[in-house]
Order: sequence, then C-alpha cells, then structure tokens
Amino acid sequence: MSAQPPSQSPAPRVGIVGATGAVGGELLLCLEQRRFPLSSLRLFASPRSAGRSLLFRDEPVKVEALTEAALAGLDIVLFSAGSATSRQFAPAAMRHGAVVVDNSSAFRMDADVPLVVPEVNPAAITAHRGLIANPNCVAIVAAVPLWPLHRVNPICRIIAATYQAASGAGAAAMEELRESTEAYLEGRDYPARVLAHPYAFNLFSHDTAVDPLTGYNDEETKVIREMRKIMGEPELRIGVTCIRVPVLRAHSIALTVEFADPITPEAVRALLAAAPGVRLVDDVAHNHFPMPREASGQDDILVGRIRRDVSDPSGRSVAMFVAGDQLLKGAALNAVQIAERLVG
Ligand SMILES: NC(=O)c1ccc[n+]([C@@H]2O[C@H](COP(=O)([O-])OP(=O)(O)OC[C@H]3O[C@@H](n4cnc5c(N)ncnc54)[C@H](OP(=O)(O)O)[C@@H]3O)[C@@H](O)[C@H]2O)c1
Repeated sequence: MSAQPPSQSPAPRVGIVGATGAVGGELLLCLEQRRFPLSSLRLFASPRSAGRSLLFRDEPVKVEALTEAALAGLDIVLFSAGSATSRQFAPAAMRHGAVVVDNSSAFRMDADVPLVVPEVNPAAITAHRGLIANPNCVAIVAAVPLWPLHRVNPICRIIAATYQAASGAGAAAMEELRESTEAYLEGRDYPARVLAHPYAFNLFSHDTAVDPLTGYNDEETKVIREMRKIMGEPELRIGVTCIRVPVLRAHSIALTVEFADPITPEAVRALLAAAPGVRLVDDVAHNHFPMPREASGQDDILVGRIRRDVSDPSGRSVAMFVAGDQLLKGAALNAVQIAERLVG
C-alpha cells in the first residue's frame, strides 16, 4: 500500500466511487451540508451510470465510469461501491497518491488498516498507510453509545439483537421494500429480486451466508470482529443476532451490556447525555423511545429504554435500545468525519 498523505493543499480534490448508490447519495449531501473544504469533486459509478449528472452545491456533476486511470489527480477518494470494486480500484487510487476512505468490508480487518469511528478511536487515523476503513453500520451504531460507558466502567460482555433496515442493503433493496409492500396491499405476487425472502410485512435472518461451524452469519461475524477492533478489545465477549426488518431506513439494536462494576441506569443516562454523537430519547412517561423513523436523517444515535437487566442480580448489567441512520452515521457521515480529520 502507498504511504502517501493527501496533498498539502488546503482544499483537497475529492472523488466518490459509488456516487449513484444509497450511501453515495448521502456522501454528496454530507459533503455539501458540512461544507467540506474541497477544491473539486468527481463522481464515479459503473458504466451503467456514466454520463448521468448529480447535483452538488446546485451544480450538475457528471458521473464517470470507474477506471484505474480515471482515479488520477485526486487527494481523497471515498469508496462506496462494494467490496469487489474496492479491492479492484482502491489500490489504483492510492498509487495515484490519494488517501482512500473505504465503506466496504474489503480491508476492514487488515492489520495495517485503521478501522475508525471518530467518536471512539480518532487517533487510529494517523497510522493510516493510504487507506482507512469505515466500519460495518451495526458496529458503528452500537459503538458510539457504548464507548463512553466502556471508558468509565469496562464492558465485559455485549448481547445484541438488530432490527436492520432495507437501506442497509442499498438503493435496490429500498425499492424492493416499497414495491413489495404495494404489491402485498394490492394482493399481487411479488417475486423477491434483491433480498432472499418476501420483505413486505415480514422479517428474516440477515441475508448473508451462515458459517456452518459457528452458526453465525457474515454480518454477525463482522459486527463481533469489528467492534473488538474499533474498541481495542480483542477478547471482548459479544453475541449478536442480525435480523432484517421491513423498515426503509435506520437500524435499531437491542443491547444488553455487562460491565466490570455495578452501574445504575441513572449513571448510564448521565454519561450518554454528555456523549458526542448520542441523543437520549428515553421518555418513560410517554413511552417514547428510539424509533428508526425518528433516527432517519439524523446524525446522532438515539438511545433509550435504559434499564437495569433484571436477569443479572449483581447490578452490573444494563439493557437499552438504540436507533441510528446507518446511511449517515453508519456509513456516509462517518466517512466524511474521517475525511474531515484528514484535512485537519
Ligand atoms: N447501505 C448501507 O447502509 C451501508 C452501510 C455501510 C457500508 N455500506 C457499504 O457501502 C457500499 C455501497 O452500498 P450502497 O448501500 O450504497 O449500495 P447501492 O445503493 O447498491 O450502490 C452501489 C453503488 O456502487 C456502484 N457500483 C457497483 N458496481 C460498480 C462497479 N463495478 N464499478 C463502479 N461502481 C460500481 C453503483 O453504481 P451504478 O449505480 O452505476 O450501478 C452504485 O453507485 C457497499 O460496499 C456497502 O457494503 C453500505
């Protein structure tokens, strides 16, 4: 891998690979809304999308077909086009001198690749050798609220159950949820195209391969490995069940967390109220807790239903429910926050 830093220019030349996708669209919005200091923006996708225009700061920007040569002349490239595309093209972007921030899972567990959530391990960015990986969306949504607790009272064990939205599987899955819901309500058949099972009024185990040895699917394995790497706790005990639910956007997670020392729900609330990237939504009187619709379009991870885990008489375990927009903090926003730190 190249060890070149981005250009010393105060305004880097930025590229987005996968600009026409669900995450790509959010990357454009994040760069625009956060006034990312770029001198130029180029957009790449598959040859299917070449020639289309996307708006950035009210100006149309042409989408280019991705080739190795086309990646020349960029300082930062945000990849969001799947692992195969990252594996094939990220090395070329680095050879041309760019720093890559990669949303795919291609390089996340490589020992020399920082896996970064800026609220958790920002210092890891400085060790990059041309590529920084953006973690799995569930790992980010869980790590942001768990980290400030872990720093005060070390976490020994996490049990998680996810409620993952269509948007986590990309733009085509979001369309499949819309179309299959309409078809269901109209009594029409709808053959599943993107996902493995009927999606309307249904839920199912995450559609990644199950390892016959462990019984865990790829998504669950990624969550476990990546949370350990982000939090710098290679032995952290984590169990997770990943479920796809018919929600358009934003993932939710039920978390039960065991700490080294006793901890009260009040202490958890106080720590999270002051935590960056977290918003408490914990209104017991009105039964108002995190919901994916309220998390959609929000930068913060919503956290609530904070209560003692009554199955642990030691007083060291707490349960909570979180919801976070995985297209934003789980993908595009996190990547742009990393890029912001690259430009200082
Ligand atoms: N969705 C999420 O919440 C989420 C969260 C974290 C990470 N990620 C990761 O982000 C990446 C994109 O996910 P997504 O949800 O945005 O998927 P998506 O909506 O399906 O978009 C895929 C994008 O990749 C482009 N693409 C596909 N094949 C390509 C190729 N051979 N060369 C160049 N571009 C190609 C597509 O271009 P065309 O439009 O031309 O086909 C499109 O722009 C994936 O690696 C995913 O694992 C997604």
